[in-house]
Amino acid sequence: MEPTINRGLDGINIDTSQICSIDGMKGELIYRGYDISELADKVSLEEVIYLLWEGELPDRQQLDAFRQELSELFTVPTEVIDIFRTLPKDAHPMHAMRTAVSALASFDENPDDVGAANIRRIGAKLVAQFPTFTAAFERIRNGQEPIDPDPGLSIAGNFLFMLSGERPSEAATKVMDVALVLHAEHGTNASTFVARATASTLTDVYSAITAAVSSLKGPLHGGANTAVMQTLEQIGSVEGIEPYVLDTLSQPGGRIMGFGHRVYRVLDPRAIILKEVSRHLAQESGDSKWFEMSLEMERVMDREMARDGKQIKPNVDFFSASVYRMLGFPSDMYTPIFAVARISGWMAHLYEQYGDNRIMRPRLIYEGPMGRAFKPLGER
Ligand code: CMC
Repeated sequence: MEPTINRGLDGINIDTSQICSIDGMKGELIYRGYDISELADKVSLEEVIYLLWEGELPDRQQLDAFRQELSELFTVPTEVIDIFRTLPKDAHPMHAMRTAVSALASFDENPDDVGAANIRRIGAKLVAQFPTFTAAFERIRNGQEPIDPDPGLSIAGNFLFMLSGERPSEAATKVMDVALVLHAEHGTNASTFVARATASTLTDVYSAITAAVSSLKGPLHGGANTAVMQTLEQIGSVEGIEPYVLDTLSQPGGRIMGFGHRVYRVLDPRAIILKEVSRHLAQESGDSKWFEMSLEMERVMDREMARDGKQIKPNVDFFSASVYRMLGFPSDMYTPIFAVARISGWMAHLYEQYGDNRIMRPRLIYEGPMGRAFKPLGER
């Protein structure tokens, strides 16, 4: 019998999970039994993290205790922040982020113990510190001093505060929070798979998360949000969208960033919510350029994909680009923002993986030569 090959691990189930369900035909995303479209504007990121990690939404007391736990962990060791000062000013924020996660391991008192209590301790620390070091890098590369976290603020509010030094408005904090909730978890996407596969050797959490950050950076995954904005900036106007899309699609392998998904055959439910957030921000700010361009790109892609009989719709990265632009973030920060959210999902998966581990070891079908006659170096 011919062996089966599933390129890109398409359609492969690596295990069972209690964390997240995605129905790509219905366009449904469920965190621990709750529909994302209900969670998005009704709960905070902290509640979602608690839900992903503990399996239940917290009651008031549990939430207060969890917030307190995280706020006590917000501060990143100075030595790790100082590494940013040695990086070139034009270093990619994802390279800086990967370096920071890796460095944090050396400052942890017990990085290698993968027992349940210790990885939960490290998980809280990473969730609390991702926003702190991401904001610190942004300020350092702009010649500014990092701002200490404010233990009284939420993760979303603190992130905005540590970037600008100003108390964010409730509206901006809410938009940030919704974006982070939407990006917190998404099943066995590439970076989560990488985190689980790395952890499956029983290496430490920091190694698994460093690998996950590396995977997220790619333009086919979390790097797509940056690529979307770079594309919109390059096009520059609503009128430029159609020729750009037609030209790109006419090239072999041409891709429009922010479109398509391995699982969704209908519109990504996160994109539906982010589209409305983007529309709202455009109306509020009076700067509708990026939203209008996004709408036009969606329109042209819908028409072209329908013509080719393909179901290629906007994904989470498409409308998050205009949202982050209107919140004032530089485009290369979009993927780090994704990581600030996704660290919670990565950790939820590591709790499952370490909790019932089997090493991941798939196979390749060898098609190279066999039976070759060896020649010593002098005879080749
Ligand atoms: N633009 C144009 N055509 C596309 C696109 C796109 N963005 N995405 C897929 N297609 C076409 C592709 O050319 C192929 O056509 P054909 O069958 O004629 O060769 C067909 O759709 C299937 O594509 P695929 O590459 O086999 O699909 P995949 O499941 O392996 O890849 C993907 C999924 C997300 C990598 C891909 O859709 C893509 O490259 N999208 C652009 C990058 C992007 O937006 N990534 C973010 C993904 S969602 C959030 C996240 O993970 O961060």
